[in-house]
Amino acid sequence: MRKRNVKPSQKTNQNDSVQYEKAARAKETQILAYSIPAAIVLTGILVFYITNYGSTVFILEKSNLPNASLPNAYDPNAWGSYRPHVYFGLKTRKPASPLVGLVWYRQALGSVDRFRHGCRQEDNIRYMWQDSDGETFGHQRVIDNELTFDTNWLGFKHSFASEIKLHPISQKIPNAKYTFVFYFYLENESDTLYPEVGSDGQVKSYIGNIDGIGKYRIRFESNNPVTSEASFKVPPTFNLVSITDVVQGITDVNDEGTFFINQAKLGQNLENSDSRQLLFVQFTVAENDVVRMHFEGNEEQLEGKFGDVFNKKLENFRKTFDEKYELKQTNYPANYEMMGRAALSNMLGSIGYWHGYSEVDSGDSVKPYGPLSLLSGVPSRPFFPRGFLWDEGFHNLLIKNFNPSLTLNILSSWLDSMTSTGWIPREMILDPEARSKVPAEFITQHPDVANPPMFFYVIESLMRSTDFMTQYSRRLVQFYPRLKQFYLWLKETQKGPKKGTFRWRGRNGTTDLELNPKTLPSGLDDFPRASHPTNDEYHLDLLCWMALSSRVLRQIAEYASDTAFMPEIEEDMELFNSIENLDKHHWSESKQRYFDYGFHSENVALKEIRFQDKNGQIHVIKKRDVKSPPKLQLVENVYGYLNLFPFLLRLLHPTSDKLGIILKDLKKEELWTPYGLRSTSSNSPYYMRYNTQHDGPYWRGPIWINMNYLALASLKHYSASGPHSEVARNLYSELRQNVITNIATQYQATGHFWEHYNDKTGKGAGSHPFTGWTALVLNIMAEKYD
Ligand SMILES: *[C@@H]1O[C@H](CO)[C@@H](O)[C@H](O)[C@H]1NC(C)=O
Ligand SMILES: *[C@@H]1O[C@H](CO)[C@@H](O)[C@H](O)[C@H]1NC(C)=O
Ligand SMILES: *[C@@H]1O[C@H](CO)[C@@H](O)[C@H](O)[C@H]1NC(C)=O
Repeated sequence: MRKRNVKPSQKTNQNDSVQYEKAARAKETQILAYSIPAAIVLTGILVFYITNYGSTVFILEKSNLPNASLPNAYDPNAWGSYRPHVYFGLKTRKPASPLVGLVWYRQALGSVDRFRHGCRQEDNIRYMWQDSDGETFGHQRVIDNELTFDTNWLGFKHSFASEIKLHPISQKIPNAKYTFVFYFYLENESDTLYPEVGSDGQVKSYIGNIDGIGKYRIRFESNNPVTSEASFKVPPTFNLVSITDVVQGITDVNDEGTFFINQAKLGQNLENSDSRQLLFVQFTVAENDVVRMHFEGNEEQLEGKFGDVFNKKLENFRKTFDEKYELKQTNYPANYEMMGRAALSNMLGSIGYWHGYSEVDSGDSVKPYGPLSLLSGVPSRPFFPRGFLWDEGFHNLLIKNFNPSLTLNILSSWLDSMTSTGWIPREMILDPEARSKVPAEFITQHPDVANPPMFFYVIESLMRSTDFMTQYSRRLVQFYPRLKQFYLWLKETQKGPKKGTFRWRGRNGTTDLELNPKTLPSGLDDFPRASHPTNDEYHLDLLCWMALSSRVLRQIAEYASDTAFMPEIEEDMELFNSIENLDKHHWSESKQRYFDYGFHSENVALKEIRFQDKNGQIHVIKKRDVKSPPKLQLVENVYGYLNLFPFLLRLLHPTSDKLGIILKDLKKEELWTPYGLRSTSSNSPYYMRYNTQHDGPYWRGPIWINMNYLALASLKHYSASGPHSEVARNLYSELRQNVITNIATQYQATGHFWEHYNDKTGKGAGSHPFTGWTALVLNIMAEKYD
């Protein structure tokens, strides 16, 4: 799941706090929903739970299975753009890493405005890594209204060089000046930072010692002198999240009306020999200026080195990109190619690293679980700058084609966060900065709640590549013990009421405020299911996920020679992939489609209820009105992404008649649009319906690129052979064209990739820039599905 709170029709200048209010409301119901399973999970799975006076207490300890990560997979002291939630920031991949960041603002007519630091949609800025390999360098273009500049950086062993390069100012604002404040922060109190003073008494650089890096020096270079600087110890209450407040707090104005950082405002009397923790260096710049910050570890000399090395790096990256994706050989216009490169680069450049504890509801209290270290892509820098389990599977469908070893490092960091039972937190919110982007109600994770095991899809896709297998098959064997535990956890905790069925936990069976209680764990949030959640229901998508997972796990079990497990996994694989089993539980003869099953009413609506409180004030709330009683049945009045799963996850044989039916249905107007496949059929009573008074339709109409990607990958697969291959081929090329053209049109018009797209107009909607799974447009352009 992600959030279900962003309305598809959002304006670009929305305010985050308003959204968070909505989010909080949505979350309230969700939180309450989580308490159900605590009572009903007592099905004797004592391996997983200790029951304690009737309530379930989850074991929250890290798994001691062999790590999936390799001990020396990366250098923890190498710098990277691992702070996706800020416009520009660098850190290393270790706990308590030193942090680098940038704050900028505008000064005009004796006042300051537009303090920028953390990515925010309401800033109305266009920014994307245009070129980045996610590990050693990046080139980002930032367009903040009239001000355009590039933020570039380059790593050298334990050093980095970075620059801010201004472009001409597009629209001159009288007397406006632009100020950039670089900051450098030492979180580890044993690291040191001192000003290095020249013979003229001026500070010429900063020096110190950092754990793991050793001696270092920080130098600034610019055609424009430093306007002011400050370095100091932070108070115990210091919170990096409020860095712009700190900058504003010590900003002063001089007689000429220019704003500068005034160290005296800190009231700290430090000797040059006193170590500092936080450094600000400020430049006030004009168009075409360049400002550079270099961090030189181990006596490295970076002065004057940046330009040539950076240009070479950029050139090589673009060359590799061209070779890997071969877009030049297609007929796309040049701007499509740049779009594809930006999609990949912003995905890679947004990879973050976090270390800390996840807050988990253990059943009797909320406990810190960890410590966990996560390397992961993010769906959206301003809105979702943290790890999401199922999104990360999609992200790695993109990342693996560029750098499979990076994908293995990312997947292993997720697998290594597993509990001894095999549960992995669905959202990774590990440090104060990550927490600052999440309303309190969203933070707690629930160890009975699953999320689609997309990692198995990525791994299946990797295993189809002979190149990959030649080089990395041993890594999959290292993943095996944890993948197996992950699978066993899913199989046991999400099992359905009948053999061969599965049920997502975490739906609220008692609410009367939701039109159709959400299924957040499924990732499809408000996609309609049985109207009245009960333990009798079972879910089509989850059976398909288990079918896929068992196929993949069986194959790796063979590589890992787990002979003892073979009979069990083979039996699972046969049952979960059995078309007989699928049809028995999910196929409707009368409707000729696959459906969920459960306690369902086909006639529900949200009804307005007005009442007067004791002060005479009128309130209007919406409650669900059930017009015909629910009964146990297939959920036949819902059609959309969910119903395509046997095709999306390729359970159906190429000769299957049912495949033929699904393909025919795809092209019907209810799902087909000129911009891609919409999430919920336009004939469904749930199409574009609000789920509560406040929660707008999310997976009830809008077009989502992850699902369109799965559809395209399957169409391509079924194009290869069988009686439906020609139909599949035609659908494939038409759908592909529609998806690419619309994303490109929206990208050209707005400069953003979007969370989802409007099914009537194609317009981008929801959070943005969203280079999570929407960035899969590059795979689609390059036809790289495996
Ligand atoms: C379900 O949601 C309703 C509010 O809509 C709430 O009052 C109730 O406590 C929730 N039930 C559970 C078991 O979480
Ligand atoms: C797994 O990794 C953790 C954290 O990096 C480490 O403490 C632990 O010793 C490793 N376990 C094994 C079995 O290598
Ligand atoms: C801080 O640095 C010291 C060495 O200077 C090191 O022993 C310690 O592990 C570091 N702390 C963290 C949280 O990384």
